[in-house]
Amino acid sequence: MGNDQERWERRYKQKEHGNDLSPDPLLIEYSHLFSKSQTVVDLACGTGRNTIHLAKLGCFAVALDVSSLALQNCLKQAEGAKVEIHPVIADLNSYRFSAETVDAMICFNYLNRKLALNIHHALKPGGLLMMQTFNENFLLVNPKFNPNYVLAPGELSKMFPSLLPISKRDDCRSQSATKSYLVAQKPA
Ligand SMILES: C[S@@+](CC[C@H](N)C(=O)[O-])C[C@H]1O[C@@H](n2cnc3c(N)ncnc32)[C@H](O)[C@@H]1O
Repeated sequence: MGNDQERWERRYKQKEHGNDLSPDPLLIEYSHLFSKSQTVVDLACGTGRNTIHLAKLGCFAVALDVSSLALQNCLKQAEGAKVEIHPVIADLNSYRFSAETVDAMICFNYLNRKLALNIHHALKPGGLLMMQTFNENFLLVNPKFNPNYVLAPGELSKMFPSLLPISKRDDCRSQSATKSYLVAQKPA
């Protein structure tokens, strides 16, 4: 599966990553947008803090990641929380979703600009996207972070021009806001 897999397996093996088990506040705030039995894919789920929250809401929660160690950890957390999750090991650089099969997708702290069309293609009409990741303000507090993985002002909105925004913050105007987000719906 290539570079990303090697890099991330190494990071998980060295326990450089994956300690945070609480769901993201944005997901908690917009939990009411997810319904029971909906298929929701957590893209680049890591150790599954958000996938498990979706499973607790009653969703058919798919945990997708390139790292098998992340997914093993995710399954362990799900067992502890007594919920079912559905792991998929895949490289999002090449993985192709089937058309209009997914009710919702979430993506936190992972930026892959090539993924936008694939996400749009996978969402059912009326389907939901929630995406949040670092923006250029993050470089002010963490100058060593790879600048290729931060969002420019307005970039999230431009990535998904045909989705209808429900809520967003992607102008980077406030320097204290080091992440941009978009919660948006595919037209029905
Ligand atoms: C910063 S972590 C974010 C984890 C989780 N979304 C969260 O917010 O807790 C980034 C995740 O992206 C995954 N990842 C990196 N490259 C990937 C790829 N090409 N395909 C799928 N997952 C990938 C890593 O294995 C890692 O779990």
